[in-house]
Amino acid sequence: MTGSRFDRLGPLFKRHGHRVYPRWAKDLFSLFIARLARGSRVLDLGGGTGLLAGWAKEQRPDLEVWVADPSDGMLAQVPRGIRAVRARAEALPFEDGYFHAVAVGEALHHFDDLDRALDEISRVLVLYGTVWIYDYDPRPLAGRLVRLFERLWGEPANFVPPDRLRRIFIERGYMTGLQAEGFRYVLVAELREKASGRSSPRV
Ligand SMILES: C[S@@+](CC[C@H](N)C(=O)[O-])C[C@H]1O[C@@H](n2cnc3c(N)ncnc32)[C@H](O)[C@@H]1O
Repeated sequence: MTGSRFDRLGPLFKRHGHRVYPRWAKDLFSLFIARLARGSRVLDLGGGTGLLAGWAKEQRPDLEVWVADPSDGMLAQVPRGIRAVRARAEALPFEDGYFHAVAVGEALHHFDDLDRALDEISRVLVLYGTVWIYDYDPRPLAGRLVRLFERLWGEPANFVPPDRLRRIFIERGYMTGLQAEGFRYVLVAELREKASGRSSPRV
């Protein structure tokens, strides 16, 4: 995955990207951000144009906010004041425990290797760091259609049903909370146990 498919879509996502987030998901994101300690470091992973990063910085100017994404065309739209880095979720260029929070909006299903990406998220998080994920359940009709469209478009479309993703996070040492409405869901997780030589559960 070079991100090239998304490169042309930067302006489109910049303008319309917010439309895929329902009010309740935005409210949950806002609560997630509000709970962070002053000066916390936040990563918007698969952050594209930095939509979530922008919301976080608007709400909490004290935060150090980063966007990581493989697409130059998407990153070109990231607002000023937000740090942007070209990177894939599977190989993050950050030291262990750098972030207090990681947000992944509508991007988890684009990751080629979910297992490695989840290893990386845990690695770059501090103990008791938090994760916020917004994604789609591939089982309801709407979710099946989104998956079909993305597969036709050539994306991995690795959609994980919410209850399964929750189990995966629990097995990885997180405490979790889940809210699902129709085919859309938000998973929030807190890292309670840092892996040390423990084999990661396969997705
Ligand atoms: C649907 S967009 C969502 C962008 C943004 N999070 C938002 O809510 O507007 C999916 C993003 O995932 C990125 N992406 C694809 N593969 C990725 C990977 N392996 N690691 C990190 N990001 C990836 C794409 O470049 C794209 O910007």
